[in-house]
Amino acid sequence: MQISPKASIVVLTGAGISAESGLATFRDNGGLWADHDIRDVATPEGFYRNPGLVFDFYNMRRREAAKASPNAAHNALAALENAWPGDFLLVTQNVDNLHEKAGSKNVLHMHGKLNSALCYECGSHQPWEGDLDEGMVCSSCARASLRPDIVWFGEMPYDMERIEDALDRAELFVAIGTSGTVYPAAGFVMEAAGKGARTVEINLEATGNPLFKDCREGPAATTVPAFVETLLSGR
Ligand code: APR
Repeated sequence: MQISPKASIVVLTGAGISAESGLATFRDNGGLWADHDIRDVATPEGFYRNPGLVFDFYNMRRREAAKASPNAAHNALAALENAWPGDFLLVTQNVDNLHEKAGSKNVLHMHGKLNSALCYECGSHQPWEGDLDEGMVCSSCARASLRPDIVWFGEMPYDMERIEDALDRAELFVAIGTSGTVYPAAGFVMEAAGKGARTVEINLEATGNPLFKDCREGPAATTVPAFVETLLSGR
């Protein structure tokens, strides 16, 4: 893909980039939302109604993610971040840490992280590696008020100002492994295209969103390294 090496790039990733690392997506067959009700495990109301169910859900996902390894797609994005001379921002909807395990340095987790805990009293975020449970004490305010540091439906995603600013300046916007069904992430392509950025979708199957002017279909572990190669070689 011919693009100036000074171009500013924004990449958005979704659950599909981690599928080949063995982590379930949400809306594919057998995905997480096939046998968990979003209202029970991904809303504040669900947490206050039955916190134990929510802690169990995220502890299961945290253990899965801890065992998972980054795949060639994560590695290719880490290499792109390292080699790209222009501005580069990786925004992920994922809460696993496979981008970091692959060596990506500047990752914005707009939906939070499994290996972090949030205090719902003082708002502090603290690294958290093991299981989270009711009654665990916040290291900042010493109250038993820790919850999973995950952005639930109805809550404001993290880092939106930085993301909007990067989209304003992006000359290339790439969405990888996301169904484009959850806002505000689903609207990023419109913002980028509206400012004249080139838009590329990389997905197992094209979502059919006409705002993506280029689409690379196939498994991310194959399509993402190939795409990064064309960017870095200027072909
Ligand atoms: N390679 C590339 N893409 C893949 C692969 C793969 N191996 N496997 C699946 N996909 C694609 C699917 O085609 C689909 O478009 O990944 C996408 C997964 O879509 P979702 O399951 O909806 O995941 P995502 O888009 O990340 O969901 C967004 O929804 O529930 C919320 O907070 C949750 O962050 C999540 C958000």
